Amino acid sequence: MRTSRVPLAPDFFAKVRLPFPLAETLPPQCYYSRDFYDREVEHIFMKVWNFIGRADHIPLPGDYFTLDFVGVPIIVIRDREGGLNAYANTCRHRGAKLVEGQGNAKVLVCPYHGWSYDAGGRLIAAPEMQHTEGFDRACYPLKRIRLETWEGFVFINFDLGAESLMEYLGDLPSTLASYRFGDMKQAGRVEYELDCNWKIYAENAMEAYHVAMVHAKSLQKLKRELPPVVPSRGNWCGLHTRHDGSRALLAGETGFPAIRGLEGLAALGTYYTLIYPSTMFGCTIDCMWWFEVHPLGPERMRLIVGSCFPNETVQRDDFEEVVKRYERRWATSVREDNDISELQQKGIRSPYAEPGRLSHMEELVHRIGNWIADRLTEGEQRQESGVQKRSAV
Ligand code: FES
Ligand SMILES: [Fe+2]
Repeated sequence: MRTSRVPLAPDFFAKVRLPFPLAETLPPQCYYSRDFYDREVEHIFMKVWNFIGRADHIPLPGDYFTLDFVGVPIIVIRDREGGLNAYANTCRHRGAKLVEGQGNAKVLVCPYHGWSYDAGGRLIAAPEMQHTEGFDRACYPLKRIRLETWEGFVFINFDLGAESLMEYLGDLPSTLASYRFGDMKQAGRVEYELDCNWKIYAENAMEAYHVAMVHAKSLQKLKRELPPVVPSRGNWCGLHTRHDGSRALLAGETGFPAIRGLEGLAALGTYYTLIYPSTMFGCTIDCMWWFEVHPLGPERMRLIVGSCFPNETVQRDDFEEVVKRYERRWATSVREDNDISELQQKGIRSPYAEPGRLSHMEELVHRIGNWIADRLTEGEQRQESGVQKRSAV
């Protein structure tokens, strides 16, 4: 990983940090500069809890999937005892990538020289290495990456010193408790790759200003109403929209019954929440869906759109048939959001692009910018004081 060398100018975020009605957007270079992206990887993605999907995506012992997250190859595998483990997908011999894609395996065998690991990460075979003096297989397990779950949602963290996932999420689990995500099952999971910066997608997901234009033909008609920002503690922010019916269906369609036991605002509409930095959960009266964003570079990202329904809904005889209506809704609105996000990227990378002003419907765009500014300057301050300490000795 490259390390950022030149500190950001002290006033780099000054106008982003103004109070919401007066503030500007992040400067355009934040959306295309390689140096800024490297800072984000180092000070944000390598430090926080990153969402990587549902535990029920790999239900059986030996089930695994792989991903490259901000350039780090990772394997997530379920062991014989039913536990989930995340490892660096890098062989301890000479570093080859061990496995690709997803599947089920009792043993992970490196395709290069055959070193083999079990789902607990132990090196269980290393051909010919008995001739290597002092070699002890026990000293070469796969490198473990922290993994924690919340109600079936899986998060990883590269930072051994980071707080727990529950501390990171603050009061999000209690705010969304009545959805009982732990009693839900993953229904769909679709991957896209996009030519845009990851923040463009996160910001788009958290403002309703674009809905009347971008989704004019697809989503149920909404006035340009102002969905209230919900109070939040911890590393998330959210909106709540009041309405009847489900927000996961196209205009005029009907679907499944409501989730049983929804309480408070959950029973009255839809929560749109962003778990910083880049995971959006849409929670409506009959299901939830997520946008999982993996940055691939300053101007490229992977989007995974997944959805969960209550177990009792998934067991219905008409589930396969009726769920297609929801899939049509996500396929349509996601295509519209993807297209507008790539269009924004094309414009914002111009030398003529400048910071913009925000409407009253974009308060969370302001919050996202400030969360990023806080993380980057906090990291830089720590790094600078480290440099000072080092140069003092
Ligand atoms: S690099 Fe994996 S066995 Fe040699
Ligand atoms: Fe949208």
